[in-house]
Amino acid sequence: EGTGRFIVGGNWKCNGTIASVAELCEGLNAGEIADNVDIVVAPPFLYIDQAVEALDAKRFKVAAQNAWVEYTLQDPTHHYDSDTGAFTGEVSAEMLEDLDVPWVILGHSERRTLLGEDNVTVGKKVAHARYHGLNVIVCVGESLEEREAGKTLEVIFAQLRAVAEEIDDREHSSWGSQVVIAYEPIWAIGTGKVATPEQAQEVHAAIRQWLVDNVSEEVSKATRIQYGGSVNDGNCEDLAKYSDIDGFLVGGASLDAEKFVRICNSSV
Ligand code: G3P
Repeated sequence: EGTGRFIVGGNWKCNGTIASVAELCEGLNAGEIADNVDIVVAPPFLYIDQAVEALDAKRFKVAAQNAWVEYTLQDPTHHYDSDTGAFTGEVSAEMLEDLDVPWVILGHSERRTLLGEDNVTVGKKVAHARYHGLNVIVCVGESLEEREAGKTLEVIFAQLRAVAEEIDDREHSSWGSQVVIAYEPIWAIGTGKVATPEQAQEVHAAIRQWLVDNVSEEVSKATRIQYGGSVNDGNCEDLAKYSDIDGFLVGGASLDAEKFVRICNSSV
């Protein structure tokens, strides 16, 4: 069981226009949300500024959906001094820090599967973002094929190990309440097929135990573990009752202010 505050993230993915972002922010500001919940919304990079301007800053923090990290496999120790430079099309953690963007989502399965991010890359991204003082939501999760082959925990532990190997022993790069783990089974993302609360709780408990065994008891308690994958205003309350489900990472339903507000209030 964790001890942190409930935390709900809205991952807007690659959606939005100036008009729809304005409307969504207005809807969120109008929502009544309990004050014992942390809320983070992640617009596409180009709309972050607009969202920061429009949202009630006391209640809503913003996140980027990715950050660049430069490293070479030939020289895996080569980090941290070079995330700006000749990397066309990328946005660095240093820039997010410069613009006071407090959060970043890393290792989303869409980036892992569509953009080829492997475990090592995600681990380095997490460490690098922490180095720049960013709070991180790092996503882990198995495919349907992996689940059916009985490999769910093996896959997730390998994803976590890659993070632990990078952030464990580096200065300014620690675990704790600033690193949130989002468990997002790939088969449940955008499919309408939500994991049962028991399935989610089982994996969340295993992740927490992994943190006890591989990081520390203290970190296992401080780390919030979100569930993501077809969370909506109809299923969130059942999921939120489980002791190791400390929040949600919401895709589709986060684009609807009323639904998202209900999800934010689901632990109350
Ligand atoms: O990051 C959130 C996400 O992948 C879940 O998406 O649309 O199934 O809520 P969705």
